[in-house]
Amino acid sequence: MGALLGLALVAACEPRVELKPGDPELVRAARQIFDTRCANCHGPHGRGDGPAGRGLSPRPRDFGDPAWQASVDDDRLRRVIVGGGAAVGLSAHMQANPDLEGSPVLVGELIRLVRACAPGQDSKGMSERAGENARAAPSP
Ligand code: HEC
Repeated sequence: MGALLGLALVAACEPRVELKPGDPELVRAARQIFDTRCANCHGPHGRGDGPAGRGLSPRPRDFGDPAWQASVDDDRLRRVIVGGGAAVGLSAHMQANPDLEGSPVLVGELIRLVRACAPGQDSKGMSERAGENARAAPSP
C-alpha cells in the first residue's frame, strides 16, 4: 500500500511545465489542442460544425448558445473534457482526454476557449483569433 502510494506520488511529481493562466504559451498550447483534437467535431469556432461533427448524432452543440453557456458550470465542462461525454451522460462520441487530467491549468484554458465562443465574450476568444488566422491565411 505504502509502495503503491509512493509510486503514485512519484508519477504526480514528474517534471511537468504547468504554466500560469494567461501565459501566452498556455494560450497557444490550448489553442493547438483545440485545433488538433476538438475542431474536427466542434468546428474552428466551436459552432458544432466540424467535418466529423456534422455527421454525428447528437451533433456537438453550438458553444455560442448563451442559454447553454449559462446552464453549465466550469466544473462540468472540466469533467466532459477530461472524462469524455460518457462521464456526464452525454454521447460517447465526445472522447475522453485522460492525458489532460494532470494539467488542470491547461484544461482551464480550454474551458476559457469554449466560454469565449459565447457572444460578447472577451476579444481574445477563439472566434476573434480564428478570424485573425483567416485574414492571415491568404498571404503567401
Ligand atoms: C469525435 C468528435 C468530438 C471530438 C474530437 C470532441 N468532441 Fe466535444 N463533443 C462531441 C459531441 C458529439 C458532443 C455532444 C454530446 C451530447 O450532446 O450528447 C460534445 C460535447 C462537448 C461539450 C459540451 C458538453 C455539454 O455540457 O453539453 C464540451 C464542452 C466539449 N464537447 C468539449 C470538447 C473539447 C474541449 C474537445 C477537444 C479536447 C472535444 N470536445 C472533442 C464530439 C466531440
